[in-house]
This record gives sequence, structure tokens and C-alpha cells, in this order.
Amino acid sequence: MAHPKRGCAGRIRCRSWRACDDAGMAITVREDLAGIPDYVPGRKIPGAVILSSNEVPGRPPEAILGAIAEAAADVNRYPQMSCDDLMARLSARLDVEPGRLAVGCGSVSLCQQLIQAMCRPGDEVVFSWRSFEAYPILTQVVGAVARRVPLTADHRQDVDGLLAAVTDKTKLVFVCNPNNPTGTVVHAEDLNRLLDNVPDHVLVVLDEAYREFVTDPAVPDGLGLASTRDNVAVLRTFSKAYGLAGARAGYCIAPPQVAEGVRKVVIPFSVNKLAQAAAIASLDVMDELLARCAGVIKERARVYTELRGMGYEVPESQGNFVWLPLGGRTMAFNEHCVDQKILVRSFAGDGSRVTIGLPEENDAFLAAARSFAS
Ligand SMILES: Cc1ncc(COP(=O)(O)O)c(C=O)c1O
Repeated sequence: MAHPKRGCAGRIRCRSWRACDDAGMAITVREDLAGIPDYVPGRKIPGAVILSSNEVPGRPPEAILGAIAEAAADVNRYPQMSCDDLMARLSARLDVEPGRLAVGCGSVSLCQQLIQAMCRPGDEVVFSWRSFEAYPILTQVVGAVARRVPLTADHRQDVDGLLAAVTDKTKLVFVCNPNNPTGTVVHAEDLNRLLDNVPDHVLVVLDEAYREFVTDPAVPDGLGLASTRDNVAVLRTFSKAYGLAGARAGYCIAPPQVAEGVRKVVIPFSVNKLAQAAAIASLDVMDELLARCAGVIKERARVYTELRGMGYEVPESQGNFVWLPLGGRTMAFNEHCVDQKILVRSFAGDGSRVTIGLPEENDAFLAAARSFAS
């Protein structure tokens, strides 16, 4: 389309909504963005059983809803820019100095902030694949290079493979523990081998979004590692066990210079007032929230056992979900579930991840899985 006002000397004065094709004057978006996959959220269909986004089921405790309502009444005012109250609560609770903490708009924002703070174009970020789908997207957005290390045949992260993928350009290694979507874990012995052997210029990011669902004693607590090692950052979220996925809050514990960088690149006021209030209130009702996690863990064992009994391969999961590595049958399984009004998260050609829901939701899913198997 020809420029309607040739010679208008620039984009500002021309009010055409169309891109100008005059050489040097067209509005262009970075071409490499076309090569970056879109983040695909779990599907939501009204009336369906939603097991697609690893949320916890059920209404939040009244104390949290009350805190959100109170914060909403004051929503004409900006939130605390640096989340001071939440930072203070986390600092006291975790026994971590505020200088080693950062709060973000969900832990996915902290993943992004870490990459932005640490990587320049051409630097490398190493992670297992398949893992949390935001890692490659956020890496490529800053022009860094994603190095994917295949999972082992039994769906675990290959620590030696991660080490082998590290180069002089590597800035970050993400270890998702438990791994989304497989639910498999890295044990302390393997993680320590990784931490002992990465070069000094590499920061290992332990993404512990599902830590509260872990029952395997061989899985290390990242908070302990972050307090004793200077090459570890830990990400935690209020979205999963705390049941605040819609509020958007997470936190990062990192060496002081890293935490400072993470805080520096934050979008101002991105952790909104309602999210800050909800996160603080959730810390007051931890017992209630952890009791709900215990219910999820119990249901996880039941779903796992029943699926195995139907003949499905299911890796042992330490998250609030299970993984069905269905390969070429994945999308047929997905459509079968949709037909039964059950939404799961499927990755074509790879597998389906199914969130553990309420017992009756799990029953509905198991019935769909049973009819697919037969
Ligand atoms: C492994 C992992 N990390 C981080 C996140 C981001 O969570 P949020 O941004 O809601 O804190 C998710 C969300 O599903 C996840 O699975």
C-alpha cells in the first residue's frame, strides 16, 4: 500500500493506520519475534472440568477474599512500588535479608526479569526440554539463545546433559523442580553435582513453583541451597499451593547482586495492590492452604494408581498434576477429554498434563481416561 501522504517526513505526522512501504519509513516489528512460539494458556470452556493450568481447586479462604476487598476499596491509589510490606513479611518468614529478595508479578515475571538482568543478545540459557514453556519464549525475547537438553527416557532432567550444554556464553541454567509438565524431580545428590560443577559465571535458577506438593525427602529445599551457595536463585509462586493464580505474585531469592538486578528491571507497579494484599493474607492462613495441598497430594496418589491400573505410562509426579506421555496419541486423547467436557493441557506429539482437581473432578477425568483406554 502506497503511503497516502508522500513526503510527510515521518510516522508521526502521517495519520494512516496502514504501514508505510516507503523505504526506511515503514514501521517494523523485530523480525525474529515471528520465530518465537506463543505462550499457550490452558483452555477454559464454561461448564467444563478445568484440569489444564495446574491451579488448585476451590474458593480462596475468606481471610484472603477480605484482604482483596479491602485493597480494592483503595484501588484509586498506586500500590507499593517495592512491595515493602510483602517483602518484610517474606524476609521474616524465610529468614532472608530483603537485599536477597525480589517480588514479581507471578514467578513467570521473575523468570523474565532474571533473564533480562543477566543476559545480553547472544548469551545462552540452558534448560531441560520439555519443561515450563515460558523459558524458551522469554529467552528469545531478549535475544538470548535457548539451549534445550532432552529429558531422559524416563522423563527426568538429565543433569549431566545440562552440564554438558553449558558454554562460556551460558548465563543461566533453569532447573524446574518438580518439572512442569512431567512432575519428575531432581534429587539433592544430582542437584549438588550440578551446582558443584557449573562454571563460576553460571547462575542456576531453581524454579520451585510446585515445591509445596513435594513429599519425596530426597528433593532438596531450594531455600536451604540459596542460603549456602552463591550460584543459586530460587523462584516461588503464590499461584499454585497458595491458590492465587489470578492475583499474580511470586518471589525470588538470589545472591544480592542478582536480586538487585531483578528488582531493577521490574515494570514499575506491576505487582498490583490486590495481589500484594492477597499474598500477605495468604501467609496468615498457611496451615489452611497446606492442608488443601495435602488433599491434592492424596488425590495425586489415587489418580496415579488408577491410571497405571488402566495401562497408562505415568511418571511419578511431585507436582499437583500428572503427565501422560502419549506421543502420537496425545491429541486424540485431548479431543476425547474435551468431548467429555474435561480440559487437560496437551502438547501435540508429546503428552498431556492433567492437573489434580477435586475428587469428583478427578473421577470425571479418570472415567474419560478409562473410556479412551478401552
Ligand atoms: C514451573 C513453573 N514456573 C513458573 C510458573 C509461573 O507461575 P506464576 O507466574 O503464576 O507464578 C509456572 C506456571 O505454570 C510453572 O509451571
